[in-house]
Amino acid sequence: MPGVARAHKLSANESPLGPSPKALAALDEARPSLSVYPEGSARLLRQAIGEFFGLDPARIIASGGGSDALLHLLANAYLRPGDEVIFGCHAFLAYKIATLANGARPVIVPEKHTNSGIKLDVDAMLAALTPKTRMVFLANPNNPTGTCLNREEMARLHAGLPDHVLLVIDAAYAEYVGAKDYEAGLEMAARFPNVVMTRTFSKLYGLAGLRIGWMYASEAVCDVINRIRGPFNTSLMQQLVGIAALKDREHFWAAVKHNDQWLPWITGEIRNAGLKVDDSTANFVLIHFPAEGEKTAPAADAFLCQNGVILRAVADYGLPCALRMTVGTEEQNRLAVSLLRRFMALSR
Ligand SMILES: Cc1ncc(COP(=O)(O)O)c(C=O)c1O
Repeated sequence: MPGVARAHKLSANESPLGPSPKALAALDEARPSLSVYPEGSARLLRQAIGEFFGLDPARIIASGGGSDALLHLLANAYLRPGDEVIFGCHAFLAYKIATLANGARPVIVPEKHTNSGIKLDVDAMLAALTPKTRMVFLANPNNPTGTCLNREEMARLHAGLPDHVLLVIDAAYAEYVGAKDYEAGLEMAARFPNVVMTRTFSKLYGLAGLRIGWMYASEAVCDVINRIRGPFNTSLMQQLVGIAALKDREHFWAAVKHNDQWLPWITGEIRNAGLKVDDSTANFVLIHFPAEGEKTAPAADAFLCQNGVILRAVADYGLPCALRMTVGTEEQNRLAVSLLRRFMALSR
């Protein structure tokens, strides 16, 4: 950033704690084998995930392109021109891209404005079903709104879908959710042949740069995806680091604790500065700004950038009056909050 000595990136929901030291040590383990093709099914990583979550490893597919690559593989496998794909109007952008890339039609449904934030509307999603619907994408928690559907709402959504409609539950932020009535999609994907759950090591595990994702689905869906994925779609490095990261529970809980401490602090402080902030269940908050005048989201974005803090403008997500802020280190959180306070106090 021109003119800024140090930039703080709070725009991509990365972990302020970074990866586990044990995951970093596993990188070295892979070193001597870099000239050799990796085992193609990521067997050891799938076994470790299966053991940890109590899942059948044969129904897990690992990805060396993050969970993003899995969302695209699912769309490539199941969508044909003319098919319809339902998702919320503030959904993760990959859903629209993967839909359009396959000549299918995005059916974008309104979301509900509640006291705690903007939420996916199960009834609106079910009302959008037509004979052409082939897939429903949703992130739970959703990015960029940070809100969640509970177990009952997810069950109601699924119960309303015909068997041939694939429900893709993107649980990229599942690790952050503490609510008792939250189900990341493991139980649903285990039970229903038309449910897929995707997960990632990019967020709480602090490994966004290494691009490790995985999914859980029925044998039939896994068979299809295994046929079209690359034969060596996860490197040995990704497999070993993923296993080490999963096993380091100390680092996991440190990251949970950090988020549990700073998410409410950020939310409260930014509200105190006079801005509306939705209740988030993930590692980021959605901050709403006035639509007109001097305190708009683009003006705040420019002010923060001039002062070395990068948030995420979310106009592309249908939220031109909002910015998304990732929970950062203590220093970053305090800096971003104090800049927002200064921005709100400024007058020309
Ligand atoms: C909702 C959601 N799904 C998926 C992803 C992609 O994650 P990955 O790094 O595993 O590709 C992201 C990343 O920002 C996300 O916010």
